[in-house]
Amino acid sequence: MSSKCVILVGGGTRGTRFRPLSLDIPKVLFPVAGRPILSHALSALAAVSSIKEVLLIGFYDDSVFKDFLTESAREFPGLSIKYLREYRALGTAGGLYHFRDAILKGNPYRLFVIHADVCCSFPLEEMLKMFEDKEAKAVILGTRVDVASASNFGCIVSEPTTKKVLHYVEKPETYISNLINGGVYLFDRSIFDVIGAARTARLEDSLAMVEEQLGEDDGDDVTETLRLEQDILVRLAQADGFYVYETRGFWRQIKTAGSAVPANSLYLQKLFQTDIDAPGLARASAQIVPPVFIDPTASVDPTAKLGPNVSIGPRARVGPGARIKEAILLEDTEVKHDACVLYSILARGVKVGAWARVEGSPITPAQHSTVVLKNGVRVQSVAILASGVSVKDEVRIENCVVLPHKDITSDVENEIIM
Ligand code: GTP
Repeated sequence: MSSKCVILVGGGTRGTRFRPLSLDIPKVLFPVAGRPILSHALSALAAVSSIKEVLLIGFYDDSVFKDFLTESAREFPGLSIKYLREYRALGTAGGLYHFRDAILKGNPYRLFVIHADVCCSFPLEEMLKMFEDKEAKAVILGTRVDVASASNFGCIVSEPTTKKVLHYVEKPETYISNLINGGVYLFDRSIFDVIGAARTARLEDSLAMVEEQLGEDDGDDVTETLRLEQDILVRLAQADGFYVYETRGFWRQIKTAGSAVPANSLYLQKLFQTDIDAPGLARASAQIVPPVFIDPTASVDPTAKLGPNVSIGPRARVGPGARIKEAILLEDTEVKHDACVLYSILARGVKVGAWARVEGSPITPAQHSTVVLKNGVRVQSVAILASGVSVKDEVRIENCVVLPHKDITSDVENEIIM
């Protein structure tokens, strides 16, 4: 029995918190641990034998995924991967409904739906097992977060022994639970009836509104936009057959540009633990503190010290005596001799001068926000240098976001440099 997967990839007008990195590359194609964010989900899907087809649904231009689809077809020969473009942002459930014929083609037995911006261990087999054991209609991935940050997410109240979902509230104003929506769902085809019912209810509401406002006829537009979280999960929780699979594995969201750094660390650690001989993973040595990924086209001086949790992209150059830790260096970056790059992202073509220092601050593994307080000011924990930025020799940059093509010639801290 075959299953399918839809990955919700969003579009150019979303993911604004990922700026300035998303100015060059869509968030879902940004490389963490040496490969695009989306590829990590595809790897997990390819490992599930019943999944044969993956549909990426979003509202980016078709050309955005052209090369990625060609490369993915080569990397995952067992998966048919296609991109379906929404004519505008239809919301996390609107696109599913709009493309329901394409999704249901071939009569898939189960449908995974994945938010492209989650970084996790993707316990898909475990979710499938729970689905069968419970004879469920829907299973949601849940993860625990600290009580203080729970209300930033969709919160799930479940029955402790059966794991049946009793309530679902998106970003509640008061605390209800620290078990949150992990952005991975498994549905049977009845999900389209639930979305259809939510759509009809929305249509009736908007018609009533139009009648009240005498003829402002934008009802159709309003009903096409549906959100999985607010419009659908809340309904599912009111019926039977909705369960939560609580993961003990790692889980993070990739929302802000800075959140690529913890995602990079988590995926590198996973790779290091599961496949120590994976291409690009550097061997531990006096100069390499694993896990470290180095693209084969990059050149790293043997006296530079790297790691842990570092990804070095294509054609990057790292000079003698440089120190790099908890960082992502994209293609064509250069870090000159004795420079230091910590808790940072260097986008394409960034140049860091000799003895310069680019630095963010550490965050705790449990922390789901990439904001830290420094001298009473809220700043990004990760230093982000957008494409083409150049940092002069001996200059220090601390907790700054630098927009593309700036030349930084004197020390800066806790600033956004435009
Ligand atoms: P918040 O997390 O609530 O702040 O909003 P968000 O837009 O960052 O994320 P949301 O939970 O709405 O989106 C989850 C995933 O769905 C992300 O990968 C988005 O890119 C994607 N997504 C959001 N809106 C749409 C949409 O209209 N169409 C499609 N196809 N995907 C979407």
